[in-house]
Amino acid sequence: MAIDAAFLDELRNRTPLPSLIGRRNKLVRSGRNWKTCCPFHGEKTPSFYIYDDHFHCFGCGVHGDAISYVMQSEGRSFPEAVEQLASEAGLEVPKADPRTEARAREAQSLGDVLGLVQESYRRRLYRPEGRDGLAYLRGRGLTEQTIERFGLGWSGDGRQLLDELRPHGVTVEMLVRAGVMRVDEQGSPKGELFFNRVTFPIRDRRGRIMSFGARTLGDGQPKYLNGPETALFSKRRTLFNIDLAREAVHRGADLVVVEGYMDVIALDQAGFGGAVAPLGTAMGEEQLELLWRMSPSPILCLDGDAAGARAALRVCEVSLPLLSPERTIRFCRLDPKDDPDSLIRSRGPGAMRDVLAGATSMAEELFGLLTGGMVDPGPDQRAALREKLVALSRLIPDKALASEYRSTLLDMFFERFRRKKNFPRKGGESFPLSSQAPGAMRDVESGNLERLNIMTAMLLLHPDILPEVEQAYSGLHLSPELDRLRAALLDWSCQEDVLTEESCMVWLEEHGLADLANTVKGGPLPRSVGDGKVKDEILKVDVIESWWHFYALVNFQTFERALEEDVTKAVLNGDMESFVDERGESALRFPSALMTRLRVRDALKSGERVGE
Ligand code: UTP
Ligand code: MN
Repeated sequence: MAIDAAFLDELRNRTPLPSLIGRRNKLVRSGRNWKTCCPFHGEKTPSFYIYDDHFHCFGCGVHGDAISYVMQSEGRSFPEAVEQLASEAGLEVPKADPRTEARAREAQSLGDVLGLVQESYRRRLYRPEGRDGLAYLRGRGLTEQTIERFGLGWSGDGRQLLDELRPHGVTVEMLVRAGVMRVDEQGSPKGELFFNRVTFPIRDRRGRIMSFGARTLGDGQPKYLNGPETALFSKRRTLFNIDLAREAVHRGADLVVVEGYMDVIALDQAGFGGAVAPLGTAMGEEQLELLWRMSPSPILCLDGDAAGARAALRVCEVSLPLLSPERTIRFCRLDPKDDPDSLIRSRGPGAMRDVLAGATSMAEELFGLLTGGMVDPGPDQRAALREKLVALSRLIPDKALASEYRSTLLDMFFERFRRKKNFPRKGGESFPLSSQAPGAMRDVESGNLERLNIMTAMLLLHPDILPEVEQAYSGLHLSPELDRLRAALLDWSCQEDVLTEESCMVWLEEHGLADLANTVKGGPLPRSVGDGKVKDEILKVDVIESWWHFYALVNFQTFERALEEDVTKAVLNGDMESFVDERGESALRFPSALMTRLRVRDALKSGERVGE
């Protein structure tokens, strides 16, 4: 039974070999790849290497791909292995179809036809008819080697292909199916697709030609014309230059995604071999998968204009649901008037290197995109932004990673739009960054529930301390109920000047959260906060100290790390308060907010119990 080759390709694409083999074998890094002790012959030191699409054992010589791995390691037949991997990848194996084999044969012959077309285009570039085309490419700074390496050609006047290739058995229908000849509405052939254009062959992962793109020399429209979808060519499943880029990336080049063919070529010529481009369409899921098979963090290098920003946001939205700890994207942005090609031409490869070196993380890019142009957002805008940031992090399926994004984005949010009214402070606090390691979440689910309740209750009773702790509070991983209260509290606090328990309760009442709030407030509270003391008698700093105490109990490591960072920041910024010590001399110390947290840390470290 023949299974559709395109389907098998897709199946291999969707099955990362390291995770498949890693299920039963302990993998260790080997440069960009992985290795392990060969599962097929006994050995003590690893000589079984795992690449993005195949494995090879240098000990016993066994090699293969995901399908043959399952066959060999689990004793399955080919169709069984395909079936198993397909169900794991959520794919359905296409029904056996007698036409499949015919299609495979046709693909072969289409490939041959495209090879002949390519030879024809190439020859023409160096003939008199191709003179303008060649001059154009040279005029854009391409060397002979580059023109050769990318197989650039000249389409001719669009009237000769058939006559030229007929002796090779090529028919009109074949040229139509190969995507180089057009058909009219009735399906009759209607002339060649490309004429008077320089041609850019589009190759698959293995370097076989699938189609062409072609550019006019002048200002004619469209500037670039790409071949149509065919049996061999699917725009959303491939990237321009994927074959050469893949090799370069294997040798250590950065994987860089740019917008245009000429950008890819200019980058390659300037020594950045790992460049690819989409085929005139927006980057989609399948192209991201292709990228991640080559590199865990490809760099997207988009034009610096508004269209580039829109494209970046779209890529973020498509990629968030696909992110994992091993797959991310970095971004770099050029000046609005530049693309990589023009940058290299005007300022040289060094300028491009700087741009790539300045690539930012996905979180930074997202934050920048969403806040671009925001100067002094009002409460509504702040609340909407915060919600959007949280909603975007939720798109990430990996819990720990999602939580990390949430923290990082909120951290940037507070850093940038900190409430200045109540607690003016230099710099920002370092909360909670990577507080939400998987371990931290497990804690929250077990014994920390009560502590989180208490922390929420304290804020409901003493909302005036909110600005002091809001950043740390925002980063906590909470149950859905406490999370709802938190969202309400933060929204409310954005729009109030004076934060009192009463006005807070009015707001919660209006938002249907009063019962929930009262339940939480009715729970156990530390002595310093509840228990009969008249509220006004309690110093605000005591409440804050208590709050930090519980926070630190929930996740001491994060608490301590953030504190250390803030201490460092305060020192570097010279952010100190002067005071008069016991001997009547004036001295410097940390701002009181920092002192409070330092006291909490010291108390916990020396085993003292505060306010519990
Ligand atoms: P650009 O217009 O940014 O092209 O389109 P560019 O690469 O800078 O082109 P040059 O430098 O003027 O030669 C970027 C990409 O969008 C697709 C092509 O893939 C192009 O490389 N495109 C653009 C089209 O498919 N059709 C068009 O008419 C224009
Ligand atoms: Mn350009």
